[in-house]
Amino acid sequence: MLPAIKDYRELARQRLSRFAFDYLEGGAEDGRTLARNREAYEQLLFSPRILKDVAHVDASIEIFGNRQGMPVLVGPTGLNGLYWPRAEEVLAQAAHAAGVPFIMSTASTSLIEDVRAATSGELWLQLYVQQDRSIAEDIMRRAQACGFTTLMLTVDTTVHGKRDHDVRNGFRMPVPFTPRLFVDLVTHPRWCARMLRQGGSPQLVNLARSSGMPGSLARQAAAISRQMNLSLGWADIAWLRDHWRGKVIVKGVLSVEDALDARAHGVDGIVLSNHGGRQLESAPSPLEVLPSVMDALGDSLTVLVDSGVRRGSDVAKACALGAKAVLLGRAPLYGLAASGPRGVAEVLGILREEFEITLRLLGRPVAGSLDASALSPDYRERLGRL
Ligand SMILES: Cc1cc2nc3c(=O)[nH]c(=O)nc-3n(C[C@H](O)[C@H](O)[C@H](O)COP(=O)(O)O)c2cc1C
Repeated sequence: MLPAIKDYRELARQRLSRFAFDYLEGGAEDGRTLARNREAYEQLLFSPRILKDVAHVDASIEIFGNRQGMPVLVGPTGLNGLYWPRAEEVLAQAAHAAGVPFIMSTASTSLIEDVRAATSGELWLQLYVQQDRSIAEDIMRRAQACGFTTLMLTVDTTVHGKRDHDVRNGFRMPVPFTPRLFVDLVTHPRWCARMLRQGGSPQLVNLARSSGMPGSLARQAAAISRQMNLSLGWADIAWLRDHWRGKVIVKGVLSVEDALDARAHGVDGIVLSNHGGRQLESAPSPLEVLPSVMDALGDSLTVLVDSGVRRGSDVAKACALGAKAVLLGRAPLYGLAASGPRGVAEVLGILREEFEITLRLLGRPVAGSLDASALSPDYRERLGRL
């Protein structure tokens, strides 16, 4: 076991081919949003209390009536098959073992049905809506048939953010075979062997199946993935409700106005997110907008946060500001790319341990009762300095 998530990141960097690591790690344009996500966590200070009984620590919290091991969810990420074969199955199993839900991306590379067969843990579906809405309807139908509980509509990806490294590497789906890629592959033989074992370039198998094409039509499935429905609006929440029986969450909120619109349109929760700095350059960090969103919403909606979580103390900061829990994007992928199932389990274990240490050292051993008193009182000014 390595000491920290950043050590898994470094191992992932060494072990993955260049284009795969760049795709995993990179941000939009000059990376200002990406950097800001970390700076926001770094700005915040705690206000610890002493001589409190911290013999017993309770990291668990409840979301939509379900108790989970800690205020963390393994978030939705596409193309996970670039890092390890059967990646979604591995992530879902590790999430279950850690007592937290796994959110499966529309751009996943394992079938919804195979992930269900691999775990009895709680599964959520992240939805991208393509121009042909019958594809999203079919994906929802399949996920419901497999007992997925919650739908998360991602709304910050109408078009792909500009990522220079992907342009430089010539990276797109399906992975094109170029001389540059050839060099990348021969210099990473272990990664290359793993990819060959899974049959070569990972495929967008769920999009392929739900659009009625054979899985081998990788190019067409990839094309469909780029045909986002650009006219989706708040009124379409009602369309989602017609096709989804469970809770509905909107991911990609970054303003008080949109948080209020989400509530007005009857969603059950929101994720404050800038997509890990991969989409809009110079977007605010979700942590910066969290206090004013909580002022506006109170506890009328479940508020989740992501982008930049790398430490257990980060989880405590987000919860102290009012988030019910955080989503992890890159962190579990570092573990996956570094050492497969063991790496993901270790990353989640590190976060859990750091979170529990933080709760004890804060003198607030119950995760569910964290509030802004755990932070130094100037937290708004500190976030305002970013
Ligand atoms: C490689 C990668 C792929 C992603 N794919 C998706 C996706 O398919 N759907 C989605 O809603 N978000 C996607 N995201 C965004 C994550 O869900 C999450 O918002 C973000 O990674 C959080 O930031 P962090 O990586 O700093 O934790 C992706 C992020 C990464 C790093």
